[in-house]
Amino acid sequence: MTAGADLDYNAARAALEWLIELGVDSAVLDEPVDAYALPETLNTPKPAAAAVASQGPGPRPLPVPEAGPDPVAEARRAAAAAKDLEALREAIAAYDLCELKKGAKTTVFADGNPKARVMIIGEAPGRDEDIQGKPFVGRAGHLLDKMFAAIGLARTSPDAEAAFYITNVLPWRPPGNRDPEPAEIAQMLPFLARHVELADPDLIVLMGNAACAAALNKRGILRLRGHWAEAFGRPALPMTHPAYLLRQPHAKREAWADLLDLRARLNARAP
Ligand code: URA
Repeated sequence: MTAGADLDYNAARAALEWLIELGVDSAVLDEPVDAYALPETLNTPKPAAAAVASQGPGPRPLPVPEAGPDPVAEARRAAAAAKDLEALREAIAAYDLCELKKGAKTTVFADGNPKARVMIIGEAPGRDEDIQGKPFVGRAGHLLDKMFAAIGLARTSPDAEAAFYITNVLPWRPPGNRDPEPAEIAQMLPFLARHVELADPDLIVLMGNAACAAALNKRGILRLRGHWAEAFGRPALPMTHPAYLLRQPHAKREAWADLLDLRARLNARAP
């Protein structure tokens, strides 16, 4: 973007933030780059290889990927080492192997009462959550708070019976609020599993497709919603995401039925 050469620091920064907001996640140079061209060094055979090459045509040597840590194994190791929720928060914040982290302003861990009997799992932070560092604080979050208040649950309640605890499958905002990719979900799953283990809720609510993909390895929320399943060894209720309810208000009727079902389960299993 040569036009950017005239911008001062603040204007350039604002322009860059605007592009990130639109979902741009890679920089493109003025000249086209052939990403498929092999680097010069790969085309020039080394002495030993040259001898083999001189024997006739053969398969072209493939670039050998640099060996790095296995992101899932590393997530498993870091998650298992966390002995409490604070340690888990720190472990996630220190985990550098997920590309999403580079584009996010904050690591969004959780909100609400960690002792609550109900734990809600959403998808990933959006713009508001990324700014505030807390899950579900934008429009969808306000609707979610109202929905759960209607069955007597609030994230701010100090009483475990009347509270909920809330987190997301991904702690970092995907660029432009795109859907999480399966590889990103798989990568962060060990942290989510440990999160549930440490918070130890009685019941889980899976908000939307990404939560169902992570916890049940299933998609199709409109089919799954309202049917109790088992996730992380405990009862879990898939529900339509509040962002979907904002777009499709007619679906609130079914969501209300699901909330009443959740309330009935809580009452039935009251300590
Ligand atoms: N949607 C989510 O799934 N999670 C958030 O934190 C915000 C919006």
